[in-house]
Amino acid sequence: MIKPILWQDGHLTIIDQTRLPSELVYLEMADHRMVGDAIRTMKVRGAPALGIIAAYGLALGAGGIQATSTDQLLTEVDAIAGALAATRPTAVNLFQALERMQATARSARDKGTVEDLKATLVAEAQRIDEENLDADCRIGELGAELIEAGTTVLTHCNAGALATAGCGTALGVIRAAHIGGRNIQVLATETRPLLQGARLTAYELMREGIPVTLITDSMAGFFLHRGEVSAVIVGADRIAANGDVANKIGTYTLSVLAAEHGVPFYVAAPTTTVDMKLASGDEIPIEERGPEEVTHIKGVAVAPEGVKVANPAFDVTPHMYVTALITERGVLREPFHDRIRKILIRED
Ligand code: MRU
Repeated sequence: MIKPILWQDGHLTIIDQTRLPSELVYLEMADHRMVGDAIRTMKVRGAPALGIIAAYGLALGAGGIQATSTDQLLTEVDAIAGALAATRPTAVNLFQALERMQATARSARDKGTVEDLKATLVAEAQRIDEENLDADCRIGELGAELIEAGTTVLTHCNAGALATAGCGTALGVIRAAHIGGRNIQVLATETRPLLQGARLTAYELMREGIPVTLITDSMAGFFLHRGEVSAVIVGADRIAANGDVANKIGTYTLSVLAAEHGVPFYVAAPTTTVDMKLASGDEIPIEERGPEEVTHIKGVAVAPEGVKVANPAFDVTPHMYVTALITERGVLREPFHDRIRKILIRED
């Protein structure tokens, strides 16, 4: 399994996902500004990975501050958290991890020196990383039970090791089913505009020897209509309290197609992707990215210069289209609102 974010002896290194699949390049993050830039430019991406890198980014940033008191360090920590929070708006894991780090910093303020506080932040980021890995591996185990042996599942975008601490959510389920001997095939959508499916999902699955066929986004209906897909499984960037799911643009289309063809539509995500503060998906902020991602592919223009472009990076799938949410605390079905509340309250 590939690990997209590494913290070793005070050094933070990421895989530059914009260079995959042609080159596997590791980049060391010099400071929190570089981390913010890596998030914005999607060198690191995927909701759980954004939470982890934000936590390490904050720890790295705090480590570089010359503060004379814990109070002063805390002020700087809040400023760095604010800068990291302003990078991408949709994946709630980013904000959730930053808030947790800030709360940890506040509670450690009076318990030691500036250096102690810095060490506490590193330890907390490592805990977030480890907890994410455990959650994703558990999601894989629970979700694999839902996958019928000998069938083809369709996935969208990249919800694999690269998008997480290293186990993957949707791809974690697929991997667990594969390792469990279910003899499955995967249809991976290329995922325009940034091709996470073609560049990253196809790369990860091939690397692990899991049979994968790459299709363009517009081919999904063809294969569903022919009865060649037994399940659609995707990740999530934010899940509202009622079970509505924000995920990569194109997910909503797939959910409607799946419902039309009587195919289960599964969303695999850790509970840290749930935002109980939002009653429904209508309240989820949707990132709008630059027009060049649509007009160009790898720097080459594929549209006339000056054309008007829309580029929402995510869409919202209403919970009525979600067959089940696969979380580390269990597989949830309707009524999502009550069941989500129950699992979150159970262990918090
Ligand atoms: O824009 P991206 O590549 O960050 O979008 C990623 C997705 O939409 C993933 O499906 C989601 O974050 C889940 S990753 C386990």
